[in-house]
Amino acid sequence: AKARHFRWEVSNMFWSPDCEEKVVIGINGQFPGPTIRAKAGDTIVVHLKNGLHTEGVVIHWHGIRQIGTPWADGTASISQCAINPEETFTYRFVVDKPGTYFYHGHYGMQRAAGLYGSLIVDVADGDEEPFKYDGEINLLLSDWYHESIYTQMVGLSSNPFRWIGEPQSLLINGRGQFNCSLAAAHTPGAKQCAAAGNRHCAPVILPVLPNKTYRLRVASTTSLASLNLAVGNHKLTVVEADGNYVEPFAVDDIDIYSGDSYSVLLTTDQDTSANYWVSVGVRGRQPRTAPALAVLNYRPNRASRLPAAAPPATPAWDDFARSKAFTYRILGRAGVTPPPPATSDRRIELLNTQNRMGGGHVKWSINNVSMVLPATPYLGSLKMGLRSALPSAARPSDTFGRGYDVMRRRRTRTPRWATTCTCSRTTRRWTWCSRTRTRWRGTSARCTRGTLHGHDFWVLGYGDGAFRGDAGDAAALNLRNPPLRNTAVIFPYGWTAIRFVADNPGVWAFHCHIEPHLHMGMGVIFAEAVDRVSELPKAAVSCGATATALMAGAGGH
Ligand code: C2O
Repeated sequence: AKARHFRWEVSNMFWSPDCEEKVVIGINGQFPGPTIRAKAGDTIVVHLKNGLHTEGVVIHWHGIRQIGTPWADGTASISQCAINPEETFTYRFVVDKPGTYFYHGHYGMQRAAGLYGSLIVDVADGDEEPFKYDGEINLLLSDWYHESIYTQMVGLSSNPFRWIGEPQSLLINGRGQFNCSLAAAHTPGAKQCAAAGNRHCAPVILPVLPNKTYRLRVASTTSLASLNLAVGNHKLTVVEADGNYVEPFAVDDIDIYSGDSYSVLLTTDQDTSANYWVSVGVRGRQPRTAPALAVLNYRPNRASRLPAAAPPATPAWDDFARSKAFTYRILGRAGVTPPPPATSDRRIELLNTQNRMGGGHVKWSINNVSMVLPATPYLGSLKMGLRSALPSAARPSDTFGRGYDVMRRRRTRTPRWATTCTCSRTTRRWTWCSRTRTRWRGTSARCTRGTLHGHDFWVLGYGDGAFRGDAGDAAALNLRNPPLRNTAVIFPYGWTAIRFVADNPGVWAFHCHIEPHLHMGMGVIFAEAVDRVSELPKAAVSCGATATALMAGAGGH
């Protein structure tokens, strides 16, 4: 294992991700940010300089558990103080497990402004993946809005509320095409975009050789969109999800929600005289965004030779039965994925709702508490015992009440403006989530996807309606071979049951990975055995009440 050092500067810059020039947040002049490639067991050291002129920044390493380094998790107001303009913060952490990961901003809605990139961890020297392949292709998927995140954030917190709407484009490795199609011949009314060139929005070309097997690493960092990926004429065999091996299964296309990552194997066994489309479209919401396309280029065909066939059609956006069928096939890999603990020590039931606040503002909440982030990050204030720096004593309840009918539209109670903080010793916990239809917007319910920092969890099961407890649904949970993941989907009007072992002291966000949902409060924070966290680096606590305490010589050892 070795240490890999990176010097990064985050800054705003002009870029044309979908051929329209906008401002993106880039790293070292690149969008998406540089790919980190490491081997399991390596230490990653990123010296991150904030080159944004007027706002803070942090970077979260999605899927990396930060065992023993909770201050490097990169969550503003939770694990660290945001890095001020012109300042540098050093992230130092071990990537302990091979897999497909990514990183992204975790302050305001900076992820949606383009602050993201890939993080790929290969097996340690001498170890082998439990599957074989000849080459690799990396696909980082995102969605893109023409309105700035500042306009979006003002809209979300305005009264009346202004929703961000659907993205203008979908991006593959930061590239998309707005207002034209690479496959115009198959897209009524579309004009043909140029298929070559060196513009930011030039199509992604994926060169492959015939009769080889490729590992496609696919991750989604979308702000909103749930995606589906297919490659014309080719089957995909799913082998990894969120940095954990899964029992291999073959499909024509994969669903991928924000925060998910997968590896799929593809064998180039088709007609070698043709190129093929990779198509990424929207699912789960009525799509108003054209699919993103890339070209799988069988060498030695010319890259600019567009596939003659139509791109694979994205399955119907509202075919949830199909989405569920895909998700349910994801299981832990036999002989590799450890089984979950048979019982849990604590059970937490969380309900996501969209609430109207007293004054009419719209917020999202969990168990009727909308997460707002405090001036002093939780990790510092809890570790240094600064109880008064906690935004309120509000400790959300571990349950939302048995009587709640997720199928019924009804008025939700007005939540308090409070932040959630659950404190406990190291215990095993069991969480499940459920989504309600909102009272003023009854046309369709959307999925949410919950992501947990600092841990992988087993996804024990899914179901419709309310969770019926031990007597009913608990008995049907899969304790034999559930997958380990860091992000899980919650289907509309449904529940998802996860279990995790609280074995990583720290303060960890558990939230919806949809950026506007998180920004408007759909999250909780698990404070886990904070007394066992070792001394915090000063730079992580150099703001708010922890800074004051440090200056007074109190607290920080
Ligand atoms: Cu990728 Cu807190 O999430």
